[in-house]
Amino acid sequence: MSKLITTTSADPTTLLAWYDRHHRSMPWRVDPADRAAGEAPDPYRVWLSEIMLQQTTVTTVQAYFLKFMRLWPDVHALAAADRDDLLAEWAGLGYYARARNLHACAQVVSRDLDGKFPDTEDALRTLPGIGPYTAAAITAIAFDRPAVVMDGNVERVMSRIFKVEEPLPDSKPGLKAHAAHLTPDQRPGDYAQAVMDLGATICTPRRPACALCPWREACAAHHAGIAEQLPAKRKKAAKPVRQGRVWVALDAAGRVLTVRRPDKGLLGGMLALPTTAWDSQSDAPEGTPPMPGAWREIGEVRHTFTHFHLVLTVERALDAKIPAGAGTPLTEAEGAMPTVFAKALRLARSGSDQR
Ligand code: ADE
Repeated sequence: MSKLITTTSADPTTLLAWYDRHHRSMPWRVDPADRAAGEAPDPYRVWLSEIMLQQTTVTTVQAYFLKFMRLWPDVHALAAADRDDLLAEWAGLGYYARARNLHACAQVVSRDLDGKFPDTEDALRTLPGIGPYTAAAITAIAFDRPAVVMDGNVERVMSRIFKVEEPLPDSKPGLKAHAAHLTPDQRPGDYAQAVMDLGATICTPRRPACALCPWREACAAHHAGIAEQLPAKRKKAAKPVRQGRVWVALDAAGRVLTVRRPDKGLLGGMLALPTTAWDSQSDAPEGTPPMPGAWREIGEVRHTFTHFHLVLTVERALDAKIPAGAGTPLTEAEGAMPTVFAKALRLARSGSDQR
């Protein structure tokens, strides 16, 4: 860890005053005025939104959040949901282990905790799918207890306020110490969201709007003229490219052949198209189609996962004789599968009259 500047004139109160005027309204939020008037957030809504917001943007999450709340308005309803229905509604959000853990967590809270989320970081962290970030976020936002909430936005803001030039991820412990130093006892829930909003709207990765920033005078990186250069990042290794083959069998009744992925591993438990393993580093692997048919190669689709780029060669069979029970209506399939399969299905349907 490089030497830390531990003093700052950045004042949480100044940021909270900015948040009172400029907070973003979101369906899971209790706005600061309502909170001041005594409205308490629903921990279920806070938990659900925070799980969805990991790795996914606020814009994308809004529609999913509202749909989940309509289908499963409380933790008991979500716990009682059919897991395949939950996975189908999650489709498109990515990182599917989150959805499996969401269901497992709802079941523990519903069954063992009388539907009540714990209000401490330690207790929250014992629940499925709740790591340090989510535990801190729920503690602060749902229960208004001081907790150091570290996400990418907060890391960027701290690295600039304190002018931390050590690259990420080595700088993480230092950034957390800085964030802890600033976290107030008053309104910790609003404060946590205020730092996130500052990072999302003003202290942006590129072209930060320093002129509008409530912490401008206190910002060491701004004074040094290097706000935009921070945080520094250690160079990442390039992602490898992997190849696979996927089969899209369509029938005259408007169905597509689908499979369920094994629970363990990438996209576990999700509705999917039959595919080879994705381990070829060079050409598309050969493979045996999942059923007889007039198979033709029709093109390829690309998708990027956390640790690799994937190129899938797509084969299609029209007028396939899909066995009863193995097909999913096209009206449901695309929305219920992970994006990589939805892409392959869209390609297979374009230019076919089996829509
Ligand atoms: N990103 C993750 N959680 C958030 C929240 N509660 N408000 C704004 N952005 C977020």
